[in-house]
Amino acid sequence: RRLSPGPKPLAGRHALVTAGPTHEPIDPVRYIANRSSGKQGFATAAALASLGARVTLVAGPVTLSTPAGVDRIDVETAQEMADAVETALPADVAVMVAAVADWRVAPAAQKVKKGEAAPELRLVENPDILAGLARSPRRPALLIGFAAETERVVEHATAKRLRKGADWIVANDVSGDVMGGDSNAVHLVTAAGVEEWPRVNKAEVARLLARRIADALGNPG
Ligand code: CTP
Ligand code: CA
Repeated sequence: RRLSPGPKPLAGRHALVTAGPTHEPIDPVRYIANRSSGKQGFATAAALASLGARVTLVAGPVTLSTPAGVDRIDVETAQEMADAVETALPADVAVMVAAVADWRVAPAAQKVKKGEAAPELRLVENPDILAGLARSPRRPALLIGFAAETERVVEHATAKRLRKGADWIVANDVSGDVMGGDSNAVHLVTAAGVEEWPRVNKAEVARLLARRIADALGNPG
C-alpha cells in the first residue's frame, strides 16, 4: 500500500546537510579519518526532503545511495566540505551531521615508503565548518550540530552548543554500539534546555528532527 504523500511543511525551504566522514590524505594512497557510516546524515537529508524541503547534501566518502529528491555533492576533505557548504548557501536550515576530521596532514606528493623509522605525522587543525557558519553573515536561520560523545554527553553537548554558536545540538551517546549501527541514544540541547529523546533508530531520529525543524521554521511567508 502506498502511503499518501502527507503535508509538506518545508516546501519552499532550502536545507543544507553535511554527512559522513572526511578523509585527510597522508600521501596518494593513505589517509586519516573519523569513523562514520553517513547513515544519520543521509537519513536526515531524506527526512527533510520528504517534508518538502529542497535539500543539498554535502557528503564525505560513504557507500550509501542518494535519497530521493536530494542534491548530493561529494567531497573528500574537510576543506572541500567547507567550500561546498559555502557554495550551497543561502539555506534556511543547516544540519551538520558530518564527522569532520579535526586535523589534516600536510600530504606527501609521493607514496611514503617504509623505512627504518616510522614517519611522524604533523597535524594541522581543520576549519570548523559549523562554527564558521555560525559567524557567517549568511548564517542559516536555524543552525544545528551533532555531537558524538562517549562520556558526560549532555555536559559536553551543552558546552559545544555555546562554543560553536549553534541553535541546537543533537547529542549522541556513542559509548555503546552506535557507530555504524542503527540505534541512537539522543538528547536535544537547545537554548530552552535539554530533552531526552526515546531510543530509536537513525531514520526515526531523522524524522523527529525534521519535524522539529519544520515546527521551528514555521510556514514560509
Ligand atoms: N564540525 C564541523 N567542522 C569541524 C568539526 C566539527 O562542522 N571541523 C561539526 C560537526 O559536523 C558536528 C559538530 O561540529 O555537527 C560537533 O562536532 P564534534 O566533533 O563533536 O565537535 P568538536 O568541536 O570537533 O569537538 P571534539 O573535540 O569533541 O571532537
Ligand atoms: Ca571533532
